[in-house]
Amino acid sequence: MKILVVNLVLLVTVSALPRIDPLVDTKIGLIRGLQATDGDYSMFLGIPFAKVNASNPFGPSLPYPDFDDVFEANDDTAICPQREEFDNQIVGTLDCLHLNIYVPNKATTRNKLPVLVWIHGGGFFIGFAGRFIHGPKYLVKQDIILVTLNYRLGPYGFMCLDTPEVSGNQGLKDQLLALRWIKEHIDSFGGDSNKITIFGESAGGVSVDYHLLSKQEKLFNQIILQSGTAQCPWAIEDSDRSAPIALAKRLGLDTDDVNDALKFLATVQPDLVIAASLEIPNTFMPCIEKDFEGVEKFIASHPINSAIPKAKDVLILTGYNNQEMLVPYVIRPISTLSLNIFKSNLAMMFDLSNDEDLESIVRQFYVGDEEVSEEIRWNLMDFEADYTFGHPVHRSLYKYLENGGKVYYYIFSYSGGRNFVKYRNNITIGGASHADEIGYLFDASIFKESPSEEDQLVIDRITTLWANFVKYGDPTPETTDLLPIKWDPITKDALTYLDIDKELTISSRPFHKRTTFLDLFYKANQHLLKANQG
Ligand SMILES: *[C@@H]1O[C@H](CO)[C@@H](O)[C@H](O)[C@H]1NC(C)=O
Ligand SMILES: *[C@@H]1O[C@H](CO)[C@@H](O)[C@H](O)[C@H]1NC(C)=O
Repeated sequence: MKILVVNLVLLVTVSALPRIDPLVDTKIGLIRGLQATDGDYSMFLGIPFAKVNASNPFGPSLPYPDFDDVFEANDDTAICPQREEFDNQIVGTLDCLHLNIYVPNKATTRNKLPVLVWIHGGGFFIGFAGRFIHGPKYLVKQDIILVTLNYRLGPYGFMCLDTPEVSGNQGLKDQLLALRWIKEHIDSFGGDSNKITIFGESAGGVSVDYHLLSKQEKLFNQIILQSGTAQCPWAIEDSDRSAPIALAKRLGLDTDDVNDALKFLATVQPDLVIAASLEIPNTFMPCIEKDFEGVEKFIASHPINSAIPKAKDVLILTGYNNQEMLVPYVIRPISTLSLNIFKSNLAMMFDLSNDEDLESIVRQFYVGDEEVSEEIRWNLMDFEADYTFGHPVHRSLYKYLENGGKVYYYIFSYSGGRNFVKYRNNITIGGASHADEIGYLFDASIFKESPSEEDQLVIDRITTLWANFVKYGDPTPETTDLLPIKWDPITKDALTYLDIDKELTISSRPFHKRTTFLDLFYKANQHLLKANQG
């Protein structure tokens, strides 16, 4: 009943006030947005911030020309070429370098609001910025401006060659152009360009970390990294330089010349290129770029060894979910579980060629002498969660501290009706799987019902914590009924964290036995890290 009444009031207000679509005057021309219908804010959808070079769609993107006429910012459906995860179709076009801006109605050029910029995840091969997943209403309710952006993925975003035309990390450079655009233009939308926080999850968190590590100018003041930092073993790869040849071959051109292959691939429809990319073993990931005159380099050294001068005095909020690998391990039939995961995972970072014991030490820590069985399913899950997400975040905490950053640390453990990945897989076992927290930050359209009271409380809490951080640099500037705790930054000797569950609690050093084992393992085997072997 209550909901009905609220709706009625809303209807009356709406019909009494004719809707006027917001028009913003920017340095690049007029941009017309839309009034939102689910909150007190306006939306500027699908603003192009860069343009893919048609002659070299695998290379750096180009500035977008100024608008001659009013740009109608009303379409957030652009998606960069990919096989998207919701119905497994290959979709997308190269006219995808768009961003979306959501502005609370109280923001004006005189009352500027802080800005929060989202970089989506998806392993650098899938994902998009639109409202289908990233409905903004919970975050804009917090009186901050939200921006979400697309970047190129897979072969178009992460082909990495020893040539100046495709030197690598094009998708991250797309993000960089978006951040430059935001810094330059967000004031026109009532945003405070001196108060920008960038945040991302998984590959988005890794991306955020790369923006901190890079030598480029600092386009943000604070960062939030959810379940992903540049220390993740999968965050960097020594990419296969012959990828264009393999792609061209699948698409009908037999050549051993990378440049011929690239020229040919530039003429092929993106959906065919994506289809071919799924059939070759080559992967497309961030890479360490070679030096080329006149080419802007984004990743210059291995993240394990990078100094982070930009971290000095930067406020950082980071953490991960308490059961990062839950969904994959619930789904996997026992026949697909294997003890080989120890070797294959460790080999991503360590040179195992001269030391057979390395793998067995880690395996014995997690599963003893057991063979694969239902009993050890969850031990394997813990190893992959620790190695892939938890321990990399843990290592990052120390890196940030050493470089003068100030870090708020969280674990998200809540299991409710909007755990993004569990919900999609019909899994109700407790715990929070990778990406589950997204359902509490964004109003994703996959949820057919409005949030339960308990879920709404978690939404209100996490969005208030994140927004307080954006506004005040402190997620709990004062204790309130909603946030009845004080969440302090970590120190080297006290890894205090906020556990975000049904209740909020402060604890210290999560999963300390597993993390400390891995700390020791990394310390003892530093000389075997591939990153340290040149
Ligand atoms: C677009 O790519 C082609 C082929 O690599 C290159 O020659 C050209 O300079 C690029 N265009 C711009 C404007 O950079
Ligand atoms: C989850 O359950 C719903 C309803 O029973 C069903 O339609 C859907 O296919 C299931 N999804 C998965 C991934 O099993």
